Amino acid sequence: MERTLVLVKPDAVQRGLIGKIITRFEEKGFQTAGLKFLWMDEKKAGRLYEPHFGKAFYEPLVNYMTSGPITAMVLEGEKVIEQVRNMMGATNPQNASPGSIRGDFATRIDHNIVHGSDSPESAQREIPIFFEKAELVDYTKDISKWI
Ligand code: RTP
Ligand code: MG
Repeated sequence: MERTLVLVKPDAVQRGLIGKIITRFEEKGFQTAGLKFLWMDEKKAGRLYEPHFGKAFYEPLVNYMTSGPITAMVLEGEKVIEQVRNMMGATNPQNASPGSIRGDFATRIDHNIVHGSDSPESAQREIPIFFEKAELVDYTKDISKWI
């Protein structure tokens, strides 16, 4: 089953939105494979956003992502990567549709509250930055046949 990395960014943690954001994905029907709370250091943030290295927003982005603790999760489901990106909304919350997470909870691109892998290749690269293989749990929920 496809997996993706989701991060509840430092601003969302400070604003008390961890539960609301996780609830969106839970209620949608995705299965949680991994979940942890951590404070990223510069090295981890640099690995995560390595594809953006050298861009004008890279340094502010690393500062933002290391400014406080985050919640990291691995979600599982059919087409979960694309579906999570749709649920998050546009990168700039000012363009994100109402009903999306960024559309409902954020107002600025530099505080856009949530991260999601943007492709299968990104998910494969990003998940091991946060989770060891043994920290990801394989299981079947009885209710999955109804989702
Ligand atoms: P993310 O990686 O965090 O899920 O966000 P994303 O795919 O929607 O956007 P991406 O292009 O990967 O950019 C990563 C993060 O960098 C900040 N950003 N600032 N000022 C700017 O033009 C700008 N562009 C991007 C945002 O925090 C974005 O989420
Ligand atoms: Mg991205």
